Amino acid sequence: MSGSTPTQPLLRIESFSVSYGAVEAVHAVDLQVEPGEVVTVIGPNGAGKTTLLAAAMGLLPSRGKLYFDGDPLPRIGVEAMVARGVALVPEKRELFGEMSVEDNLLLGGFSRWWRGERDQRARMDEVFAIFPRLQERRPQLASTLSGGERQMLAIGRALMARPRLLMLDEPSLGLAPLIVREVLQVVASLRDHGVSVLLVEQNARAALQVADRAYVLEMGAVALQGRAAELLHDRRIIDTYLGLGGRKAEAA
Ligand SMILES: Nc1ncnc2c1ncn2[C@@H]1O[C@H](COP(=O)(O)OP(=O)(O)OP(=O)(O)O)[C@@H](O)[C@H]1O
Ligand SMILES: [Mg+2]
Repeated sequence: MSGSTPTQPLLRIESFSVSYGAVEAVHAVDLQVEPGEVVTVIGPNGAGKTTLLAAAMGLLPSRGKLYFDGDPLPRIGVEAMVARGVALVPEKRELFGEMSVEDNLLLGGFSRWWRGERDQRARMDEVFAIFPRLQERRPQLASTLSGGERQMLAIGRALMARPRLLMLDEPSLGLAPLIVREVLQVVASLRDHGVSVLLVEQNARAALQVADRAYVLEMGAVALQGRAAELLHDRRIIDTYLGLGGRKAEAA
């Protein structure tokens, strides 16, 4: 039995601050993602969500501490994060428009191929099982995909690296409400495939509906945190982020 072994958070950041020149965009944020958890960071435009994610991935310099699997990372760099099994789907999806769906996916598996792990075809089949729509569009150029399909391809490409932690920056951006739900439900189902998720979203309702826990970021700091299901019914969240639909839902 492993009952006596305390599980370490997969990702833990402590007193994390990020500045652009003299302006501090993220102040002393503490956040953690447990193995198998879907954690969302919600907050308004300019709250620092993208900045927090980019710094946690090692793409921006930060102050504070970052632990992965309980180990402190002395230098937070993107190579170290990738080597630990972290993948980021950035706000700008950065697909290769003139390449097919299949080739975009294979490129996502390139770092593993480089390390001598030749399981890209099998992995691609697993990604197709998660996103059957991508399989149907296998030869299609990425630039001709719909917005929702492009989002699925960006996530699928990140999954090709077999991440333990997938970080997503606003996967709902620009998508119709039905597609938002479809994409976020698939994102949440990744925990059944052993992938933990850190999901940054402006679409608070959709994110809280699929996440286990949530942090509300306002002006670079954590204003509120808790179980996602509880925050969906929190008066402050309803008034500020969920709007009329939230009040109706609560009254119902
Ligand atoms: N490269 C940069 N140089 C200077 N300031 C920046 C830079 N990038 C972001 N900022 C500022 O940092 C703050 C946080 O921006 P960030 O993009 O992290 O917010 P966000 O929560 O992701 O917003 P959105 O929901 O609009 O994507 C904003 O005030 C923004 O203007
Ligand atoms: Mg952003």
